[in-house]
Amino acid sequence: MRLRQARLADLDALVRLEQSFPSDRLSRASFRHLLRRGRAQIRVCEDDGVIVGNTVVLYRRGTDTARCYSLVVHPDHRRRGIARALLQHAEAAAVMRGCREMRLEVRPDNRAAIGFYRENGYETTEKIAGFYEDGADAFRMCKRLASVTGKSSARSRPPRKHARDAHVAGPATGTPAAAPGSRRKSAAE
Ligand SMILES: CC(C)(COP(=O)(O)OP(=O)(O)OC[C@H]1O[C@@H](n2cnc3c(N)ncnc32)[C@H](O)[C@@H]1OP(=O)(O)O)[C@@H](O)C(=O)NCCC(=O)NCCS
Repeated sequence: MRLRQARLADLDALVRLEQSFPSDRLSRASFRHLLRRGRAQIRVCEDDGVIVGNTVVLYRRGTDTARCYSLVVHPDHRRRGIARALLQHAEAAAVMRGCREMRLEVRPDNRAAIGFYRENGYETTEKIAGFYEDGADAFRMCKRLASVTGKSSARSRPPRKHARDAHVAGPATGTPAAAPGSRRKSAAE
């Protein structure tokens, strides 16, 4: 298993993974746009050369908050620590860009994702009415990120390290940030 930055050649695989979301899927055009504009960081996890998970993080000028816009692992590869590895890398990359917080939105009925994010130090900070395409509300979850000097906020728990993550490469450095306009919808399992 290895993590790397996504490239245009990964478009088919990224679009396929989106099928895990019941609605509000990122389109091929959206992925292409995000891959090209450099204000998003898309990271994929490969297992034997097959992309089995990805995360999309958006950055915006003028804020030290990064946004985890999408995180998904193929159903056949869940509970292997892949999402944890992707999120840890995304957080480390955000810290390298000077971000102090990661935030995301999740459907209140997405128990797997909420359990996962809590396990990784995220706390629900607010409920956003009518956030999703189908009118469903969202929970906003946030985590204070450790600084580059390694000092972490009292609000965040250090992520547990899975032994199986040990062979995953370190976080890639990113490109300059900017503002996404759209909202991301998350999946129920
Ligand atoms: C949520 C999701 C990304 C988790 O991916 P994953 O690779 O299976 O997660 P990990 O193996 O890294 O899980 C790490 C920990 O999170 C928690 N966790 C993960 N899935 C969970 C579930 N279904 N129920 C409860 N806790 C869960 C557990 O504590 C787990 O540790 P453990 O396996 O040692 O018990 C995956 O279920 C998914 O892709 N879901 C569909 C897309 C989605 O909803 N994305 C989030 C949108 S906001």
